[in-house]
Amino acid sequence: MSHLERPVIRPRRLRRTAALREMVRETWLRPEQLVLPMFVREGATEPRPISSMPGVVQHTRESLRKAVAEAADAGIKGVMLFGVPETKDAVGSGANDPDGILNVAIGDAVAEVGDAMVVMADLCLDEFTDHGHCGVLAADGSVDNDATLERYAEMAVAQAQAGVDLVGPSGMMDGQVAVVRTALDAAGHSETGILAYGAKYASVFFGPFREAVDSSLEGDRRTYQQDPANVLEGVREAVLDVEQGADIVMVKPALAYLDVIRQVRDAPELTGVPVAAYNISGEYAMVEAAAANGWIDREGAILETLTSIRRAGADVILTYWAVEAARLLKA
Ligand code: PBG
Repeated sequence: MSHLERPVIRPRRLRRTAALREMVRETWLRPEQLVLPMFVREGATEPRPISSMPGVVQHTRESLRKAVAEAADAGIKGVMLFGVPETKDAVGSGANDPDGILNVAIGDAVAEVGDAMVVMADLCLDEFTDHGHCGVLAADGSVDNDATLERYAEMAVAQAQAGVDLVGPSGMMDGQVAVVRTALDAAGHSETGILAYGAKYASVFFGPFREAVDSSLEGDRRTYQQDPANVLEGVREAVLDVEQGADIVMVKPALAYLDVIRQVRDAPELTGVPVAAYNISGEYAMVEAAAANGWIDREGAILETLTSIRRAGADVILTYWAVEAARLLKA
């Protein structure tokens, strides 16, 4: 084509009007695909703001119920619950106590919305341990994989008894999905499903979450969460989870790991397995901070972020913007 020739093929034709653009849009974002992660604090009498996550709070039991009902009204289909206990110990006893905050919150949420929503819960010890690790510790201070599995089994059964629809094992212990599946089945909870945090990375973007759950962690999680440099390992972890009985696999974080979402989505061994992605606390905080400074358009950034995660291949997205995004999408 000489520099004087006029182009015959003009992709811009399909961008001329909103109707044309929408007709050929490849990726849609729907409220039904969004899940709201929520924090509930034991003994709280007022919702407590989380300073590093503007707009997100630690709920009281009452405010949680209200917020779950609001989420249902907004048209989203799921909540993921995290408990913030009043007391913590070395083995995270509160995690499997039927009166522990997370288990009572599951019961509250189920009582509020029943089958209209999918009630999920984080299945991990870090919110409940005084050392802040996701498992129990061996004498040398390392995280003891197999001793932790026994705790996860107990925690899974307690959550199922509380009425949870999907447990979300997020501790990255080897064999955790198999142990949870076996424990649930043995306790008569074969209908309780598993949303497995398949590929979970040792990410600095979890920072604000530490405040959200009053974490006491010192150090890091690099001996159990994955090295951010690895993608094939993430696919392998997701495949292992499905082999062990995971119903849905999740990639987390989402934004700095869009390639991992895509490769998990495309892995032949995972054909037909729904893929979730968790748009985590630090990803939320970055956008909120930039928007608060007037540096980016907040609503545009929310929708573009969530669309990018869908475009990468996620079927389901956990996001602190779930309710607001659902309202924006309906507007
Ligand atoms: C583990 C867990 C974490 C998150 C969800 N489940 C923290 C971690 O692994 O360090 C992070 C969620 C977020 O950052 O939004 N219980």
